[in-house]
Amino acid sequence: MLNIYQNKSRLKIGIIIFALLLAVLSLYYTDVLVKHLSEREKKLIEIYAEALETMANTEINENQSLVLQNIINANQSVPVILVKEDKIIDYRNIYFPPNITKKEKDKLLKNELSLMTGQYAPIIVEFGKDSKNFVFYRDSDILYQLRYYPYVQILVITIFAVLSYLAFSSARRAEQNRIWVGLAKETAHQLGTPISSLMAWLEYLKEEESLKQDNVVLELEKDIKRLETVTARFSSIGSEPILQEEDIYFIILGITNYLQRRISTKVKIEIKNDLPKQKNLLLNRHLFEWVIENICKNAVDAMESRGHILIHLKEAPEGDVLMDISDSGKGMTKAQMKKVFQAGYTTKKRGWGLGLTLAKRIIENYHKGKLFVKSSEADKGTTFRIYLKANNDLLFNEEMLMQ
Ligand SMILES: Nc1ncnc2c1ncn2[C@@H]1O[C@H](COP(=O)(O)OP(=O)(O)OP(=O)(O)O)[C@@H](O)[C@H]1O
Ligand SMILES: [Mg+2]
Repeated sequence: MLNIYQNKSRLKIGIIIFALLLAVLSLYYTDVLVKHLSEREKKLIEIYAEALETMANTEINENQSLVLQNIINANQSVPVILVKEDKIIDYRNIYFPPNITKKEKDKLLKNELSLMTGQYAPIIVEFGKDSKNFVFYRDSDILYQLRYYPYVQILVITIFAVLSYLAFSSARRAEQNRIWVGLAKETAHQLGTPISSLMAWLEYLKEEESLKQDNVVLELEKDIKRLETVTARFSSIGSEPILQEEDIYFIILGITNYLQRRISTKVKIEIKNDLPKQKNLLLNRHLFEWVIENICKNAVDAMESRGHILIHLKEAPEGDVLMDISDSGKGMTKAQMKKVFQAGYTTKKRGWGLGLTLAKRIIENYHKGKLFVKSSEADKGTTFRIYLKANNDLLFNEEMLMQ
């Protein structure tokens, strides 16, 4: 079981590393493309500037003029502004929104110019002897888009990956829930028949006067009672558990009494009740007792049958109830604390690793409460905390069971 979880997290790490590698590769490749394109645009502008200069300075015939004009017109993508003595005299490839006023247009051009100044040094073009002109230019919009494209791509892929992961894991959880519920229902159902027949046999034995107070009969009766409790638990978890107003302290008292008699005498269970008055909560008694039993049994195991368990009941704001169950056992590491609620996680030879999974399910799904490890320290002990809401308006429905 342990191995499954290790493999699963290794797989997750592997996938994340692979995804990061893809992202880096995509970024690198686009960067190379951007550099190439940028070089090419620069060349284009240099030729453009040269054509301008040639046109202004040389005696040329009509045909030559046509060629130069074509060179100038070839630049259909790189925005350029021609400046003469601090005045904009011409521009190309600058987009203006329709219905723009002259003032707005000037402002836009100025903005473009300062953008270009920030990007590349202008090319100087001489018209005649004393007239110096500057060709300002910047990256084309395509180049801009190409630069940001991999980020958009990565974002979209990440969103897609997260969504599909969520969909898959919720489908898996729904399936697990169906197994839990189905198995529990079936167990309760199958136990039902032999228990009722055992009860009939017990009645039969008790009819014999000499056996009425016999130890064997009394013990048999206790065991049948216990079997009935177990069946009630399985049937509660396999169907809509009915929640009733219960005195929480009273329930704890009952179950700890029962446990104390069955565990080593070297383990003492103590209850500290700091609830202000009698506290009733909506609970399913069978299931809630099961939770306490599971946590206390784990505590006994962790203490190697010698030590102290303290159950501390306190009131939280708004009448909610906090219950801390502390033991003086061997404690857990941080890594263990993260795993204890996973189905199948166990460090025991004969453990199933289901006790805490079940307990969490009962508290969180059926009672809308919280169960978590509050603290744990090696060789000092562990504290589990149960948080129960006073107003859980718990009308149980099928959806909760299947969530
Ligand atoms: N109080 C505790 N102190 C230290 N470790 C604990 C404590 N409670 C639980 N653990 C650890 O968490 C693991 C899982 O507990 P869980 O009750 O789910 O399964 P289990 O006790 O191993 O088996 P079972 O299904 O029989 O209960 C335990 O094996 C143990 O390593
Ligand atoms: Mg256990």
